[in-house]
Amino acid sequence: MAAPGIEVCRDADHLARAAAERFSDLHSIADRFTVALSGGSTPRRLFTLLAGPPFSESIDWEKIYFFWGDERCVPPDHPDSNYRMASETLLSKVPVPERNIHRIPAEDPDHQRAAESYSETISRFFAPSPPRFDLVLLGMGADGHTASLFPDTTALTVTDRIAVPNYVPKFDAWRITLTAPVINTAKQVIFLVSGADKAPALHEVIEGHHDPRMYPSQLIAPSDGNLTWLIDQDAAGQLTLK
Ligand code: 6PG
Repeated sequence: MAAPGIEVCRDADHLARAAAERFSDLHSIADRFTVALSGGSTPRRLFTLLAGPPFSESIDWEKIYFFWGDERCVPPDHPDSNYRMASETLLSKVPVPERNIHRIPAEDPDHQRAAESYSETISRFFAPSPPRFDLVLLGMGADGHTASLFPDTTALTVTDRIAVPNYVPKFDAWRITLTAPVINTAKQVIFLVSGADKAPALHEVIEGHHDPRMYPSQLIAPSDGNLTWLIDQDAAGQLTLK
């Protein structure tokens, strides 16, 4: 595994632009570009940028296949849905074929069935090879979680499944998430982290002692791929790197 690259951007807007440029560059070198999107609020700027010129006009949307790293167990039109956010800000605004979009069926009240269905979708898509995303976009919470791999939750130790349901006590809610091993097969993993509230966790994740049960973002270490941290100056506030 290559050492993680850390790029500190001036602010959230510069962070989004750096991410958009990497997205565009990475897609241009792939015949078929498979990407697992992150959720939450940070990627909203990135998606909005990609949905407009110059990116919307230069990106070959037909060859991009969209998946998600995780989803809240809500309907796809729910305000908390990661799919809804991506659809509203990007997917509804660019000519990506509907068949290229692989939403997590997280509205299924049977969370295990939802995770198995999504795992099957991914497995079939990449068959006969094992799943290997060209790009996995990740965010990081102020508690050091990523995707829906939250501190001290059962999904952290699953190594034999592509996606699993994960109960998150702090929200009293269920999520569906890719497992760390699947993320770690990716060719490129890019964390987007913005805001001073993330600074303490980012210091612990990158520079602190190894404790992935408490800081699940430390689980992310691509075995044969690149890990990049795109962070803004606020989020970098407690890093000692010069
Ligand atoms: C989710 C995300 C989650 C997110 C972090 C950061 O479903 O919420 O996948 O892992 O990336 O919580 O969220 P913000 O970007 O909103 O800070």
